[in-house]
Amino acid sequence: MDFKEELANYQQTINQGIEKYLRKQKCKEEVLNQSMEYTLMGGGKRLRPILTLATYKLFKSDIEVAMPYAVAIEMVHNFSLIHDDLPGIDNDDFRHGKPTNHKQFNEATAILAGDGLLNQAYMVISQDLENSNTNDISQKIKILKEFSKAIDKMITGEYLDTELEGKQITQEDLNYIHENKTGALLKISVRMGAILADCSEEQLRKLTNYAEKIGLAFQIKDDILAEEGDETILGKPVGNDRELGKCTFVSQYGIKKAKEILDKITKEAIYELQEFGEKSQFLKELALYIQNRNK
Ligand code: IPE
Ligand code: IPE
Ligand code: MG
Ligand code: MG
Repeated sequence: MDFKEELANYQQTINQGIEKYLRKQKCKEEVLNQSMEYTLMGGGKRLRPILTLATYKLFKSDIEVAMPYAVAIEMVHNFSLIHDDLPGIDNDDFRHGKPTNHKQFNEATAILAGDGLLNQAYMVISQDLENSNTNDISQKIKILKEFSKAIDKMITGEYLDTELEGKQITQEDLNYIHENKTGALLKISVRMGAILADCSEEQLRKLTNYAEKIGLAFQIKDDILAEEGDETILGKPVGNDRELGKCTFVSQYGIKKAKEILDKITKEAIYELQEFGEKSQFLKELALYIQNRNK
């Protein structure tokens, strides 16, 4: 199977997983449920849950074990997108080629849809804990703790990203923002797959290094696309980082140097997978996909 096919297969598997877990019943608050579904099923690339499942698959094949965690991280990611687009944060009107959640519904609904998705992520995980046998529980509680810490980091990253708009910051601060606002969720995505599959400490260390590097690469590429991407392909605005005076790899280093850093860091990420051999081919190509994507 080639990379594109495998990517599409994963996306389909994850969409089925989300469909299974997402709350949808007819009720008075139906519009709120529709608002959550609008963004969650709105055409995202599913990178985070793919990382969870593909990392798990390096070691084991019964990927449904990792599915609740894959679904949960995608729910959290979509919560972060809805809130990121709000007028008080990035004030964006388009995402996935459609009006952003608060434009399609209204601001109150969007805020609550974000809250709802965050909470549903914990509902999915707690259901899995209840269904698990006693041998797995302590490991899964550790994952839950790390999952909640990663979300905490994402929120602090979003805070700094917003508060430092228009300010001159150091390279260290920029790395810190990226590590938190984007890196943390990508890192936990990989680590959840690895830990659930019972890999060794050394394997976990290498995979964590891989995750940290693709996490940074991902946001550098996002910064580059926000400067020179094609809006119709990207499905979200281009040039808005500059307008808001955001601190990005492009504002800090210029586009040429940002691309050089992206290239270097992608190579380093792939290097971390050496010991996993053939089985890690998909994760290697995923790092290249992150570097070369146009959306
Ligand atoms: C966009 O993430 C937001 C950032 C964290 C930079 P993605 O590009 O992974 O979003 P979707 O889900 O594929 O739209
Ligand atoms: C979004 O970062 C990060 C989170 C939602 C946590 P950006 O604001 O840079 O991403 P886009 O460009 O809106 O997707
Ligand atoms: Mg933002
Ligand atoms: Mg944004």
